[in-house]
Amino acid sequence: MDHFNYRDSILHAEDVPLTRIATEIGTPAYIYSTATLTRHFNVFQEALSWAPEYLICYAVKANSNIAVLKLLGDLGAGMDVVSIGEYARARAAGVPGNRIVFSGVGKTRDEMRLALEGGIRQFNVESEPELLALSEVAASMDTIAPIALRVNPDVDARTHEKIATGKSENKFGIPIARARAAYAQAAALPGIEVVGVDMHIGSQLTDLLPYRQAYSKMAELTRALRSDGHQIRRLDLGGGLGIPYKRDNSAPPLPIEYGQVVRETVGDLGCEIEIEPGRNIAGNSGILLSSVIYVKQGEGRDFLILDAAMNDLIRPAMYGAHHDIVPVAEPATGAELSAYDVVGPVCETGDTFQKGSQLPALADGDLVAFRSAGAYGAVMASEYNTRPLIPEVLVDGDRFAVIRPRPSLEEILAREALPDWL
Ligand code: LLP
Repeated sequence: MDHFNYRDSILHAEDVPLTRIATEIGTPAYIYSTATLTRHFNVFQEALSWAPEYLICYAVKANSNIAVLKLLGDLGAGMDVVSIGEYARARAAGVPGNRIVFSGVGKTRDEMRLALEGGIRQFNVESEPELLALSEVAASMDTIAPIALRVNPDVDARTHEKIATGKSENKFGIPIARARAAYAQAAALPGIEVVGVDMHIGSQLTDLLPYRQAYSKMAELTRALRSDGHQIRRLDLGGGLGIPYKRDNSAPPLPIEYGQVVRETVGDLGCEIEIEPGRNIAGNSGILLSSVIYVKQGEGRDFLILDAAMNDLIRPAMYGAHHDIVPVAEPATGAELSAYDVVGPVCETGDTFQKGSQLPALADGDLVAFRSAGAYGAVMASEYNTRPLIPEVLVDGDRFAVIRPRPSLEEILAREALPDWL
């Protein structure tokens, strides 16, 4: 459920007509709904409410705008970060270090040091070399790093191959067969305190079975580790629950159903539960607002050339992902539809959002919205073709604010420098 609906024949973000944002801020722009972000966070809280202790560590990578982090942090969210940059954002949003977990396959020693200095809940360690590095860094600072080892359960997440992470051929985590040995190594190292076990098997999962398989393996491992003498008091179950990108009947499972799988598989271990949802909180909380620049007649098809492009929303080009594109002016019931190839202005054929999209007749200057663009949209944008990063706007009821302005061309050019020999 989201808060982007037609009212008086105009698509609104909560109580704000998108036409108003387009007039005041210009297009393209990302627009996020406070009510939807809040609702999705609360739904996860409800899904885990059976657990005596739990923390929802929002995956910052999905949408890392500081205002979004502050909104979620104020609701009680922890944060899952994968770089010291994301850590700095979470801290800037007022999230205390003891609610931040540090994931990622290639943390540098500098990142470890800065996180230990700033305060951190736990490092999710992904390899033995990383464990040794963290031990060295923590011991040299005369401190202790709380850790969970990310274990790779070798489970097929049944999602797009570029975002599956839980198979043995993926670069993530320590193979489950080596986990007990790795925990024994961790327990013997200076500067390291074992606090839990971590897993994350992939993103945009639309089926609960892989979770059930992975978490059952985790429960078994936790029992084995406890019998080896480790204090396993936390389980970090990762993120990855998918969202509906199409308004049809193929909706992925709900967080409440996911919460039941967690309960059934690891609920009896008496551990504090951590989860790291990103897309499920931010995805349907945002849209990308864009204008039609031209409608161009091609051979046997019409092109809708938008002012948004692959550099603003890379997911269709990168994963073949689908985002519903809808006109901001509600089409009259029974309005005739035409097929358009919806494209951006970037000089690549890959800059195609959709082919043969059925839309009512549109003309230059008309507004369209890409739905489900709140996660992995703005964060993956680039300035390819020297197209400025587009603004981000947060709506709350009938008010809205720019939470990242569009940079001017002068600002973009001023970031670069000429060497003294030119
Ligand atoms: N935790 C870890 C360790 C992760 O690597 C990820 C996502 C998450 C949590 C959050 O997963 P989520 O709940 O958002 O599915 N750019 C891709 C998605 C990449 C996901 C990477 N890891 C896309 O646009 O589909």
